[in-house]
Amino acid sequence: MSSPFRIAPSILSADFARLGAEVTDVIAAGADWIHFDVMDNHYVPNLTFGPMVCKALKPHAKTPAGVAVPIDVHLMVEPVDAIAAAFAEVGADHISFHPEATRHVHRSIQAIKSAGCTAGLVFNPATGLEALDWVMDDIDLILIMSVNPGFGGQGFIDSALRKIEAARKRIDDTGRDIRLEVDGGIKVDNIARVASAGADTFVAGSAIFGADDYASVIAAMHRELRVPVKA
Ligand code: DX5
Ligand code: ZN
Repeated sequence: MSSPFRIAPSILSADFARLGAEVTDVIAAGADWIHFDVMDNHYVPNLTFGPMVCKALKPHAKTPAGVAVPIDVHLMVEPVDAIAAAFAEVGADHISFHPEATRHVHRSIQAIKSAGCTAGLVFNPATGLEALDWVMDDIDLILIMSVNPGFGGQGFIDSALRKIEAARKRIDDTGRDIRLEVDGGIKVDNIARVASAGADTFVAGSAIFGADDYASVIAAMHRELRVPVKA
């Protein structure tokens, strides 16, 4: 895959009565990753799905040619470690968590990596990036929330753009290959702006699953990503 950009549709906005077919369809439409929003009605005021649903969907997470498509788990749960281990066990590829949801951030990162997954930290709209100070050598992904976690279909919070720029600078300073993902309110008409702030991976739930033709939305997003945007 030559593009540095990844589109990660969130199945939070898919039809829950036919999730397997939704995963198959959105991959056929061009999804690069499948984003799993895991909510526990404790860390966030909503409840979604756990490792058993991930296990059931794993066989659907492949292209029509049979190439595996990464499962990107966004944990909005507290505590983190046991659920992260359970997702690793059923085939998650990337696992991200909110640093304030675990007592020992470094230990949670190590546990995810030793289970064979890549590890990411997630930052809410009003949370600073300080938790990165001592773990930049350990993480594989930074996920910037551009909405408050818990629900799909909310509007993009503009201050996330400054935070993406700050995260991009931290990543470039390390020289390490760390993905910079953005989650919340991403649409065809703002994705280029988010990319020019430094993001390379884009979660989109309602923009894709709310459309009749998933492929045309994903193609339009990729088209936007090739266009340099002026401030
Ligand atoms: C919110 C979730 C997001 C959400 C994005 O807690 O983390 O992934 O589903 O949905 P849209 O793209 O509809 O804002
Ligand atoms: Zn998410």
